[in-house]
Amino acid sequence: MTRKILLTGGAGYIGSHTYAALCEAGYDVAILDNFDNARPDVPDRLEVITGKPVTVHRCDILDPAALARVFASDHFDGVVHFAARKAVGESQRMPLEYIETNCTGLINLLKAMRAAEVFNIVFSSSATVYAPTTDWPIPEGAALGYASTYAYTKLMGEQIIAQVAAADPRWHYGVLRYFNPAGAHTSALLGEDPSDIPNNLMPYIAKVATGELPALNVFGNDYPTPDGTGVRDYIHVMDLARGHVLSLTELIERGNSHTLNLGTGQGYSVLDMLNAYSRACGKELPYVVAPRREGDLDCYYGDPTKAEALLGFRAERGLDAMCADSWAWVSRKSNMRGQG
Ligand code: WQD
Repeated sequence: MTRKILLTGGAGYIGSHTYAALCEAGYDVAILDNFDNARPDVPDRLEVITGKPVTVHRCDILDPAALARVFASDHFDGVVHFAARKAVGESQRMPLEYIETNCTGLINLLKAMRAAEVFNIVFSSSATVYAPTTDWPIPEGAALGYASTYAYTKLMGEQIIAQVAAADPRWHYGVLRYFNPAGAHTSALLGEDPSDIPNNLMPYIAKVATGELPALNVFGNDYPTPDGTGVRDYIHVMDLARGHVLSLTELIERGNSHTLNLGTGQGYSVLDMLNAYSRACGKELPYVVAPRREGDLDCYYGDPTKAEALLGFRAERGLDAMCADSWAWVSRKSNMRGQG
């Protein structure tokens, strides 16, 4: 029997890659998205990748009546919940909007699921729920904390789900803590597509590679790391998507709730990423050393062994693949835009 999954935020960066991975794994998937942070043609591109029509519910998770209509339209075996606000810096300027979308939106979703008797949820969490530490790689049992409203909403989300599941054994959840998603779909039809100047490292470097930005600002080169620049655990977005499929399958087939890091267990520096992108695009990429960015940590990468033990998940793609797939995506996108 084909399992049907609802993917909230399914037209977004990680959501769209997860849609493709779920279809490849044999799931029947519907997208729920308000398209505030997603290009309108993503479903069309997903139809090209999967060869199947894409069911889209244009819906805001802050609209309980609309959510009820979506759950009345079909029976779902599970939900993967991506729909959220996700920029750390912005969350400091708009705390109420972040708490409303990320926490009230989650509560609305859980209530709609309960009313429809859908009790499997994979929750998109974040490595930012870990308190600053010097104990790397970071295991799931490390101290939790938050240095931003964004991180607060992700930690609250995890705890809301845990409380709901503790009160009703019908619920099964997969909380997935990402480190730094990067890269693009190997078809070059999906990828990060920020309309403004990106905060994150790889999409910024990509705009330097296409000439849209003059040079990368390296935020500090005096950190206690091998080359002095910040170290992070970058994971290919297609590996991340596959991790969600394995997590959801674990819930549906075995009912094992879990909280897991999805990372590579390998740290890469800013200059490692810049050099890898230079190799991918075939040109030297200019950079200037700039002051440290407030709130940045020097080093941050996760222990992925629990995901491997429970789900058999290992990241398969390294930094060169992330950069090569990102470069293919941005090259195709700029060629497409160049054609008007
Ligand atoms: C990575 C490194 C910067 C940009 C973000 C989100 C967080 C989480 C993971 C969702 C750091 C350096 C960056 C630039 C630079 N996402 N950098 N110049 O800060 O680790 O975390 O992704 O859960 O919410 O905030 O990622 O890509 O911004 O930075 O030197 O122009 O690159 O200092 O060392 P970060 P990032």
